[in-house]
Amino acid sequence: MAPARRHALKTRDKRDKLFLRLNMRPALLLLPLAASLSAQISYQEERQLITFQTATSTMVLGVNERRELQTLYWGAPIPGTTDFTAAHSTPERSSFDSSPTRTREEFPAWGGTRYFEPAVKITRADGDRDVVLTVRDMNVTPTTAKIGLADKDGIHVDLLYRIWPDLGIIEKHSVIRNTSTQNINIESAQSGVWYVPPGDNYRLTYVSGRWAAEDQISREPIHPGTKVLESRRGNTSHNANPWFMIDDSHATEETGRVWFGALAWSGNWRLAIEQTPYNQVRVTGGFNTFDFAYMLSPGMSLETPAFYGGYSGDGFGGASRTLHRFEREQILPGGGQSRLRPVLYNSWEATTFNVDEPGQKALAAKAAALGVELFVMDDGWFGKRNSDNAGLGDWFVNKTKFPNDLQPLIAEVNRLGMDFGLWVEPEMVNPDSDLYRAHPDWVLNFPNRPRSELRNQLVLNLALPAVHDFILNALDSLATTYNLRYFKWDMNRSFSEPGWPANPADQQKVWVEYVRNYYDILQKLRAKHPSLEIESCSGGGARIDLGVLKHVDEVWTSDNTEAFDRLRIQEGFSYAYAPKIMSAWVTDVPNMNGRSTPLQYRFLVAMQGALGIGANLNKWADSDFTLAKTMVALDKQIRPTIQSGNLYRLMSPRDSDVTANEYVAHDGKQAVLFAFRHSQEYDLPAPTIYLEGLDAQATYTLTYLGDRKERHTGAYLMHNGLNLNLSGDYASTIVVLNRL
Ligand code: GLA
Repeated sequence: MAPARRHALKTRDKRDKLFLRLNMRPALLLLPLAASLSAQISYQEERQLITFQTATSTMVLGVNERRELQTLYWGAPIPGTTDFTAAHSTPERSSFDSSPTRTREEFPAWGGTRYFEPAVKITRADGDRDVVLTVRDMNVTPTTAKIGLADKDGIHVDLLYRIWPDLGIIEKHSVIRNTSTQNINIESAQSGVWYVPPGDNYRLTYVSGRWAAEDQISREPIHPGTKVLESRRGNTSHNANPWFMIDDSHATEETGRVWFGALAWSGNWRLAIEQTPYNQVRVTGGFNTFDFAYMLSPGMSLETPAFYGGYSGDGFGGASRTLHRFEREQILPGGGQSRLRPVLYNSWEATTFNVDEPGQKALAAKAAALGVELFVMDDGWFGKRNSDNAGLGDWFVNKTKFPNDLQPLIAEVNRLGMDFGLWVEPEMVNPDSDLYRAHPDWVLNFPNRPRSELRNQLVLNLALPAVHDFILNALDSLATTYNLRYFKWDMNRSFSEPGWPANPADQQKVWVEYVRNYYDILQKLRAKHPSLEIESCSGGGARIDLGVLKHVDEVWTSDNTEAFDRLRIQEGFSYAYAPKIMSAWVTDVPNMNGRSTPLQYRFLVAMQGALGIGANLNKWADSDFTLAKTMVALDKQIRPTIQSGNLYRLMSPRDSDVTANEYVAHDGKQAVLFAFRHSQEYDLPAPTIYLEGLDAQATYTLTYLGDRKERHTGAYLMHNGLNLNLSGDYASTIVVLNRL
């Protein structure tokens, strides 16, 4: 017999033995015949270990003697499986320290003697609330795994895994299935749990914020107990963002051990970061349990959002770069094939609601002269939208402002060589609108309670099929009628009174079904209009997460466009999200805080993401136009490096008055350094900036603003550093390095 065939048969024999031992159905287990020790998922039969290998991380799961699935390891790469013994539950320590609660269960249900954050909690129709999950079957391929868990009384949970071996990312999520004969109510449905190695002295890094002050970084020790990051607002929220980084308290920007995860969900989400009394730090993430209830009748299932995780041995910067690359190549629509973000102009801060054809044409001519590629008309073009009091819901052109409809404006924008985009806020309705007068029952509401307005608007219940169809049709009809390249899709308030009167028995499903319908519309719109691009905005950055990023091209980072504040907002943003996604505008001064920064400073801040201009160009001086043209031209030269390269945060605005960020192209041929100084004191020079990620042996040509050139080796730039002339207040500079 040929050796290959002999090997296949031998493997099958072993497989059959395993089924017997685990009492599994053989058809469901497919071992990877080509299992190798390199980056992939593999199953080690003797010790019942499932190993997930990526270029930068390893995760090992095992089936213990009670057939519970246990996490054995997650962290830096450990090649092969020879180091790991079979999983064994942790013994009972006292009658209060039970074995199940001490064991690192990969997906613990609430049941038996388990007392920490459960991954799933249910109530059966007959009142029974106990669930204990054990491994029933598994299906492992080199890049995916499905591990079936089940309770003896008809609750199944499929754990679904996927790895991107080269990108260093592992995905986990769950599908909870009611295989019993009675209804069950799910009270907690989590995507998964990540365990860092046992021990204490860990630190948590996360962001918090509010409107116009998103993405403020916090870094704090993890103590015993639970810290919850969450949204209860219906969308992702300004207040926190669904990702975490955990380090061993020694990580720096470029060194040390960092574990990270990001949840792909744009509705109510929750991350519980917990340190148990047994010195185990674990992060449980998924649908927020607050006000959560999801009824499953027999045969029905609930799928949770993807929870992505990874590990970096190169500090916080390494963790961010891993996430950025994954987003660019696998999350964003079109992935690695998606185009670089064009230079955008948006009329909002120039005109607010006062849009009309001559005014927009005048701005378009000026924007085109600067080199803008995408012209976006913001709020005010539809219905009776003269202020935020009216019009939301009426997605037809305001004929008083545009007596000739939008075609002449769009034709002119196109003639000027730019694409055209429109602002919409489709999930919202003003009570003063034709839509609300016709369908007052379409909004989220409790029938006998007031309907709270925010910015004079109410939230349509997008879980309703009629609302889903209305929004899809309205946007499809705009994209069909007009030559649109782009929607800025806004959402300017949080939910309130989240009732669903048409579905009284099951109305808390609204938290999930709303978001699913939102994703569905985005997906259908893109499928029908393949060149249409979409920006996710929610009063700035309240809907930014890996869920929405599967359907949109960029996000509006913050309504706060004040350049100095933006340095911190952008730094926090960059922890989890790629520069390419980060929409950043140059706007007029004085801005928020009454602060005025020079135009060059504002440009250089915005050029660190997807550059936009949101200023009132009618007020600009000739010198502003001259500088802006130079900056836009420079942006077009360097944007492949900014948008597709590796980001190194060299100096943080949180630590000193100098901020420095460096972007290095993937092929290493170019690097771009941005540096900003808040205010010089005592005539002191700016601190030396040490570059990162260069080729020590190579020589680079450095081009400063004004075209001054210098040459240095990578070694010099990384070890001797650069002393830039940053004097006075709000000084800024950019240096472009090209490898010779
Ligand atoms: C929100 C957005 C702004 C602008 C206005 C329009 O606040 O974040 O950029 O589009 O709505 O009303």
